[in-house]
Order: sequence, then C-alpha cells, then structure tokens
Amino acid sequence: MEYASIPLLPESGEGGGGIRARVRAFSLVLYNVPMNMEPYTTFLSQRLTPARYQHSLGVMQVMEALAPLYGLDPDSAPLAGLAHDAAKELPLEQMLAIAQEIRTPLDHPSDREPLFLHGPCSAYVARFEMGIEDPLVLEAIARHTYLGDGRPRSTAFCWCLRLADMLEPGRDWHVLRQRVQPLVFDRRLGEAAHEMMEWLLPFLVEHGIPTHPAQYELQRKLTLLFAGKTTPIPDDQIPV
Ligand SMILES: [Fe+2]
Ligand SMILES: [Fe+2]
Repeated sequence: MEYASIPLLPESGEGGGGIRARVRAFSLVLYNVPMNMEPYTTFLSQRLTPARYQHSLGVMQVMEALAPLYGLDPDSAPLAGLAHDAAKELPLEQMLAIAQEIRTPLDHPSDREPLFLHGPCSAYVARFEMGIEDPLVLEAIARHTYLGDGRPRSTAFCWCLRLADMLEPGRDWHVLRQRVQPLVFDRRLGEAAHEMMEWLLPFLVEHGIPTHPAQYELQRKLTLLFAGKTTPIPDDQIPV
C-alpha cells in the first residue's frame, strides 16, 4: 500500500471544552495515510480544527489495526475512522437542519445535543460532501453517537468504530485504555463494549457532559450479557 506522510499540524490554540479539550496536542504523533485517502484528508483538514483532524487520523489508525481482527474491509474500516467526526464542528443550527432533512428523531432533549447529533450529521457530510457511499461506513459513522434504530448491518463495524474513537493514541484516558484495549485486541468485543460503557457513563456524568437515554438502555443490555462473565455470543448479536 502506498502512503503519504501527513505533516504535523499546529495546535488549534482553542481552549475548547468537553471532549475536544481532552484531545491532546498530537505534536509527537505522525500518521501515515494511504494515498487513496488523500481526497478525504484534504477535505477534513480544511473542515476540522487541527486537534480534531489529528484525532480523526488516530481513529483511522486504530480502525486499520482492528480490521483484520474483526473481518472488516481493510479500506472501509480506516475510512470510517477518518470521516467519523466530519460534522463535529458544524454549528448546531446546521446540525439541526441536517437532522431534519434526514429525519433523525429530535424527541428527547439529548437528541439536540451536538455530542449525539454529530454522528448522523457526519454520515450526511461523508455521503454528500465527501462522496462516501459504502453503507457500512455510513452506518457506523451515524451510529457512533448511539443514535439509530433497528438492527445494524454490521454490529462489529459499529462497535469497532466506537472503541477506536475511545482508544486512539491521542486520548489520555489511561484507565479506559487499561480496561478496554486488551479485550478489544483479544477479540472479546462484547466484553470490551460493556467495559467501555461502564467507564463512559460515569465519566460523562462526572464531567457534566450530557448523556443520552439510549446509552443507559444499551448499558443495561450489555450488563445482562457481559457483567462478570463471558457470554459466547457472535459479534453480530452484541447490542448496539
Ligand atoms: Fe464523534
Ligand atoms: Fe471522535
């Protein structure tokens, strides 16, 4: 595979808040990007802050590593990682307009939070501005923020993206990494998903970050299956 070196970017200089504030300055991380990703990296480097763009490269890298473990397409998996936050920095009004256009339900107050809304909106940007048509990629991007009804086409793809989002090298969430990374790379996806949710919800509450009812419902289902035990169910039956 041919690679292009992506130059290091300066820090955004923004104090930021929420998750963005915890995306480290990636001054020591240099990612190799496959040449076929270049149109997408060009787009994203112009649309995202440097910190968010570097985060996206990190998620791409983890997805590349997870693809062979979970039988994901070696091109689709990193592409989903790269594009997963494509709409993260759009103004809220624009996200709400996209949500209405694609009929994302806006019933619960949390549905209107950018933290959750940006998943479906990023899938929209990936589809209509980046020209990405792979339904697995678009689905995983849309659902990485816990929104979406019905059974996904690929549970493994969706969970790999959520976990890659949490484990990319720029995050400094050491406790999460210690608890979850060995499970993910040991192909224990359901247990990894459960551990991640057990960590995530208290973390969001502790930091005053909004949660979504869908997250609690998901945690409840995962707890039934995986709390203190290894339930041998196929990856495509893990609740999403
Ligand atoms: Fe995201
Ligand atoms: Fe992300």
